[in-house]
Amino acid sequence: YKLWMQYNTVADSTVVLEYKNNLKGVVVLGNSETIRIAEKELKTGFLDMLGNIPEIKSDIKGENNLIVGSQSNLNAEIKKELRSDFDKINNEGFIIKSISLKNKRQIVITGKNDVAVLYGVFHFLRILQTNKSVKNLHITDSPKTNIRILNHWDNLDRTVERGYAGFSLWNWQKLPDFIDQRYIDYARANASIGINGTVLTNVNANALILTPQYLEKVEALANVFRPYGIKVYLTARFSAPIEIGNLKTADPKDPEVINWWKNKSAEIYKRIPDFGGFLVKANSEGQPGPQNYGRDHVDGANMLADAVAPFGGVIMWRAFVYSEHDANDRAKQAYAEFQPYDGKFKENVIVQVKNGAIDFQPREPFHPLFGAMPKTPIMMEFQITQEYLGFSTHLVFLPKLFQEVLEADTYQKGKGSTVAKVVDGTLYQNKLTGIAGVANIGNDLNWTGHPFAQANWYGFGRLAWNPYLDSETIADEWLRSTFSNDENFIKPVKKIMIESREAVVNYMTPLGLHHIMDTGHHYGPGPWVSNLSRPEWNPTYYHKAGKNGIGFDRSKTGTNATAQYATEVEKLFDNLETCPEKDLLWFHHVSWDYKLKNGQTLWNGLALKYQEGVNQVATMQNVWNQAEKYIDSERFNEVQMLLEIQHKEAKWWRDACLLYFQQFSGKELSAGVEKPT
Ligand code: GCU
Repeated sequence: YKLWMQYNTVADSTVVLEYKNNLKGVVVLGNSETIRIAEKELKTGFLDMLGNIPEIKSDIKGENNLIVGSQSNLNAEIKKELRSDFDKINNEGFIIKSISLKNKRQIVITGKNDVAVLYGVFHFLRILQTNKSVKNLHITDSPKTNIRILNHWDNLDRTVERGYAGFSLWNWQKLPDFIDQRYIDYARANASIGINGTVLTNVNANALILTPQYLEKVEALANVFRPYGIKVYLTARFSAPIEIGNLKTADPKDPEVINWWKNKSAEIYKRIPDFGGFLVKANSEGQPGPQNYGRDHVDGANMLADAVAPFGGVIMWRAFVYSEHDANDRAKQAYAEFQPYDGKFKENVIVQVKNGAIDFQPREPFHPLFGAMPKTPIMMEFQITQEYLGFSTHLVFLPKLFQEVLEADTYQKGKGSTVAKVVDGTLYQNKLTGIAGVANIGNDLNWTGHPFAQANWYGFGRLAWNPYLDSETIADEWLRSTFSNDENFIKPVKKIMIESREAVVNYMTPLGLHHIMDTGHHYGPGPWVSNLSRPEWNPTYYHKAGKNGIGFDRSKTGTNATAQYATEVEKLFDNLETCPEKDLLWFHHVSWDYKLKNGQTLWNGLALKYQEGVNQVATMQNVWNQAEKYIDSERFNEVQMLLEIQHKEAKWWRDACLLYFQQFSGKELSAGVEKPT
């Protein structure tokens, strides 16, 4: 339940001594609610990790104090000392620095406002949790994106779409008067990793959330989250003016509709002055939108943007659209529909794009919209909940996937135009930037279902703060803060976390296969499903296996989806010789005898990949079994049981897919691949 804030007693006595010597007193400056939270957090951290709380002083006396407060609350001497550091940070950034004041050593944690100080305090506690030195600290760190936000797909009846960790945290029935401790703990966890926004409701939206009865409840949550620096956002159902406003239309050009949204926004901002804005899924998968009225995404987004602009709100307009009317290649649709709108959106609109062009697969090439709309802010949408990656049953460390996407080079402005640079705005100097993650949080005791799924929430937050972080660093921090600092535990377990992403790709969708999960729930294999009414819902549409081979030809001999990328990338993917093998069957249809780089035929190579995935899970089990002595038995047992299921299901995936594809390849399984029993 305590997530990555276990604050375990520091075991190493030399480290304890160093901490005690350098942290003799604490001076907290300011008295906002946020500062009180920071102080409480420090006290909890010190007590749990070091066994006692250093003297809390009202002013700076003696040496080796920890001085905590925002810039305006620091004395002139400290301000002067930190002048150049303040120049380096943005509004949410912090400074942690060892300084000498009148020849006395002190450590200062500061920022331009109290929330930034709180971020600094959490960072400092992370230093202690990971047993790093506090001598000679000099850290300046600022978030690289503005909107670092969780998207909850939570319904008002507390079910969670694609949620695998219990029911929704938001108890609408008891709100606004009953404030569950979980709301506070949730805010604290998010603040500790720099998340500064939350969309409370499902993208498949219910207009009722915008009625006064619900807004009162939203306001109560916003009040809890505010001191933690977290803004509340809501999903806006495009047809809300009809459903709850008694209008005849939701046409974005209709004056009454325009007015309705203006008044609705004013009503929300009256209750919640720092309301973040709306997230909108329009004209996608049956959701209403401007196209119902012969208008387009720009008309819809800009109308809403005007409604929230006077209050500083933003509109996050999703680009996840596809329709059955153009089923030739679903992967092309979002780009085809959105790219022509570049430069047409109001400045408080940001287009939210999933990391890949299909739908949160174990592996997808980066979405071609990244870098392709230089005049439009684009934000990333990752899925933290594992809809297509074994729910909360399989251990899959997602930062590895996120990092792969962020590091991908779009070449849209020449070499080095990485997705991360699109997302943090540095490629095209966008002012509005953001990263969203579809939350994996529910009311399960451990928040996320699988103990290791907590790492995906954590890792998402860390990467939203800094999209250039390495997933190995994230795994290291998380393990130390969640379990133990013992190297004998950290080293092997970190390794299996890092490998877990490739393992799931191998046993589910190796070599560029995708969307072959059983339909609807998306759990387990279903490559044979072909009878659904919409072609692009059928797994057979994606793998196109037949006697002549397997794979989706998206090259210029096929759907030419490759042409949506910058020329360098287009060429790379288009050419069989240069297309990375990990994406082979995403972009090409090849024969069963096609020679892979390692000399194997495609059929053998595919079978060996499935086997490798199973073997990797077996290794994960072996490593975990050695971890027993380092951690509590509860979490140890849970993970052990879950890995057992994962191993069983990796074999299920291998056997099901290979037996199915074998009908087409007509070939024996190669040596080294276990025969299905
Ligand atoms: C996926 C998912 C849906 C979700 C949709 C979206 O298709 O299965 O549950 O609504 O993505 O992102 O809008």
